[in-house]
Amino acid sequence: MNVNKQVLLVTDLDNTLVGNNVATKKLNQYLCTHRLDYILVYATGRSYNSAKQLMLERELLEPNYWMTGVGTEIYAQDQLDFVWADKISVDWNRNAIASLVTTQFPQLKLQVKEEQNAWKLSFNLLDFLGTIDQLVSSLQAKQLKAQVIFSSNVDVDILPVNANKGNAMRYLQNKLGIANNRTLVCGDSGNDISMFQQPAYGVIVNNAQIELVKWYQAHAEERHYFAESAYAS
Ligand code: GLC
Ligand code: MG
Repeated sequence: MNVNKQVLLVTDLDNTLVGNNVATKKLNQYLCTHRLDYILVYATGRSYNSAKQLMLERELLEPNYWMTGVGTEIYAQDQLDFVWADKISVDWNRNAIASLVTTQFPQLKLQVKEEQNAWKLSFNLLDFLGTIDQLVSSLQAKQLKAQVIFSSNVDVDILPVNANKGNAMRYLQNKLGIANNRTLVCGDSGNDISMFQQPAYGVIVNNAQIELVKWYQAHAEERHYFAESAYAS
């Protein structure tokens, strides 16, 4: 099949492609028999190492591209895409943001070192009330450009303004010359919202987290499908 006739299939891993082993296996079998019809991209909040580990554990197909760390890193054949890295490095002051959060937000607990990267600071939220709004205001007050992404009622990712799964996906679309009507994205949680905001087709799995369900209720368009089944089903 002609390259630009291929579909760009971008899927989240945890609680989307992965979560029900029987469903994952069944979908993988289907995808295997159509492997040349699409370009497969795994878009995950996990680090590259952790995502690759998951691929081995769950016997997932080898993707063509990885978007890891909530779209802060794009990999193909174990090579980081430095053009993307340059794009997202603009206006990003990681050290200043890290010191602001660690000194002023004790209710945000730094996640493990392996899940941090040069363009991603990740925390777990210990005390819900107003923290995210306060964090956004504090960053603005200090003129620190960043975006805050809240997922699954616990994960708080702080990323450069240009980096997220949706922007990484658009970058890949442009690089590969694939149009929105040949792009399908799948996800379950807050860090997937940026992909659904891009004008491509989207599948929201039935087990979606509340923040994504709310987003769907408020913003869904015809190109969004709220699945009747959970996970890879
Ligand atoms: C994954 C990552 C974590 C991130 C979360 C939400 O669980 O490991 O760092 O906060 O996704 O994006
Ligand atoms: Mg997920």
